[in-house]
Amino acid sequence: MPNNNKKILNSLKGEIFKSPPVWLMRQAGRYLPEYKDTRLKAGSFLDLCYNPKLASEVTLQPLKRFNLDGAILFADILLIPNSLGLKLDFKEGVGPLLETVNDRKDILSLKETAKIHDVLNPVYEAVSLIKSKLHKNITFIGFAGSPWTVATYMIEGKGSKDHQKAKAFIANMPDSFDLLISKITDATVDYLLKQIEAGVEVIKLFDSWAGSLPGTLVNKYSLQPMKKITYRIKEKYPNLPVIVFPRGVGPHYLNFAETSEFDCLALDSNLPLIWAKKNLQKKITVQGNLDPSFLVSGGKTLVEQVLAIKEAFSEKGHIFNLGHGITPNAKIKNVELLIETLNK
Ligand code: CP3
Repeated sequence: MPNNNKKILNSLKGEIFKSPPVWLMRQAGRYLPEYKDTRLKAGSFLDLCYNPKLASEVTLQPLKRFNLDGAILFADILLIPNSLGLKLDFKEGVGPLLETVNDRKDILSLKETAKIHDVLNPVYEAVSLIKSKLHKNITFIGFAGSPWTVATYMIEGKGSKDHQKAKAFIANMPDSFDLLISKITDATVDYLLKQIEAGVEVIKLFDSWAGSLPGTLVNKYSLQPMKKITYRIKEKYPNLPVIVFPRGVGPHYLNFAETSEFDCLALDSNLPLIWAKKNLQKKITVQGNLDPSFLVSGGKTLVEQVLAIKEAFSEKGHIFNLGHGITPNAKIKNVELLIETLNK
């Protein structure tokens, strides 16, 4: 039996709780005034990501306010392309702007995997600092983007709704696209192993744009790369749990639930609760899946939605979370209401 009080870790080992453990995607962020203050002190979002002391501060901020069971490292999925040599800038009100790769030559001139740590060392330092300050009941979660989602930013250079450029890259230069996926996979494995060495206890892989892939390519570009990364992590750390988030893949979620390498499936808000309970939770612990909009609107609907999710997933492994990241206009009192409702 589990011999610690870390609810998230124990839930990933199969324990069932009357009130599920909870953490929230993007729980550190612009809806918190103290986050905005620290970000201002850091200068820019990237300076914040690469400043161990300030990054550890913002990681811990939501835990000081709310009764959460998990801390997620403060960083970003785009630090990997940045560490591979692509210039990155976060523009206020615009989002990330990333230097692009346009052909095979650009992929071949990315930095070697062994060199990424020159850029990423401050992240590992932040992990150690956070670890030294974290309460013993809190589970520490590290993360990275999945190769497909990271590749979309490396090709498009910014957020995109339809990922036409990335799909044209697949269509016109399939071998080069596969090389890019493999390059990102290698860098991600090394990055995550360093996070684990420095102290994270769970890994989450964000495939935020998996739902943009045609159904014929979900296995090849979302499931397989995440499976490969997980396999390689577990060669070194067999007991380290991995949560995958193939956002928006609908019925393909079934194939992720059946992949034995994964320990937990993060569900997006669109999935029907009863379907997910019957078809996914039967096979794997689930995480999710409150629509983050209800943290803006609050009130009775928030309470009803939280209770519906808690009830639907009460019989097997469940970690409460959102179906996507918290938005900057989320209200602090609604996060408090969410947690109060869960613990009733
Ligand atoms: O969850 C956490 O609190 C940990 C930190 C975290 C951030 N980004 C901080 C962040 C995590 C886990 C991420 C993941 C991430 N980053 C994803 C995957 C998850 C998802 O939301 O789909 C993606 C696609 C990115 C790339 C990214 N970073 C975008 C598209 C943006 C701009 C959108 C926005 O909200 O402004 C970011 C910026 C970003 N990453 C912020 C934070 C707190 C806001 C930056 C700011 O302070 O202005």
